[in-house]
Amino acid sequence: MPTLATKSKLTEGRADMTQIKIAIDGPASSGKSTVAKIIAQNLGYTYLDTGAMYRSATYLALKNGVSVTDEEGIIQLLKQYPISFGRSESGEQLVFVGDVDVTLPIRDNEVTNNVSAVSALPKVRETLVALQQKIAKQGSIIMDGRDIGTVVLPDAELKIFLIASVEERAERRYKENIAKGIETDFESLKEEIAARDYKDSNRSVSPLKPAADAITFDTTGIDIQGVVDFIQEKAKKMIDKA
Ligand code: DC
Repeated sequence: MPTLATKSKLTEGRADMTQIKIAIDGPASSGKSTVAKIIAQNLGYTYLDTGAMYRSATYLALKNGVSVTDEEGIIQLLKQYPISFGRSESGEQLVFVGDVDVTLPIRDNEVTNNVSAVSALPKVRETLVALQQKIAKQGSIIMDGRDIGTVVLPDAELKIFLIASVEERAERRYKENIAKGIETDFESLKEEIAARDYKDSNRSVSPLKPAADAITFDTTGIDIQGVVDFIQEKAKKMIDKA
């Protein structure tokens, strides 16, 4: 059975180190998951991609012919095919629904264009937030999403809200898609990102917004390493201060 990778030996048992929770929120393609993965690796922390969970719920609905607005139908599917995480031999995080590896299909355009509808359903959020909070109980976790600092981990020691212009985020996603062999039209991508920003920020339940105590960081024109350094420096200060 796939299990979420646990924290590395690096932080285990070090009585002189504080185990903190790091929340990274922000709009689509703001670089959250890329930097969170690197920081998790560097610090020996568990990384949890909460967007992958909403994508998995969306995948289940589409795959099973359930409407993306059918809250009860999707809740049933999540019970039937629980979401779990694992690791490939090369160390990549894998996402499963039941026993099926959905790591790649949850990135398809059809899932991407329907995920905002599914993530606006209150009971779906309730179910997935409960799972996210359960996973976070082990401590030393870095989680990325839209509502981590506001709802999932309101007590996170470090909260970062990443932003970047729509143009730059579309460019990043375009390059990623091309590298993965996903056919993409740049202008449509820009429109889709802007539309998803709007829906994610204006839904009634847990909209995308910075927590009052979050540090907002504009990554426009800043490379991945620059963002990693900015966050990691703050995290290390907190971790080492015990
Ligand atoms: O981070 P991502 O693009 O993979 O997220 C996919 C969608 O899931 C995003 O459009 C909004 C939703 N989401 C959410 O509502 N809350 C989260 N914590 C994470 C993602």
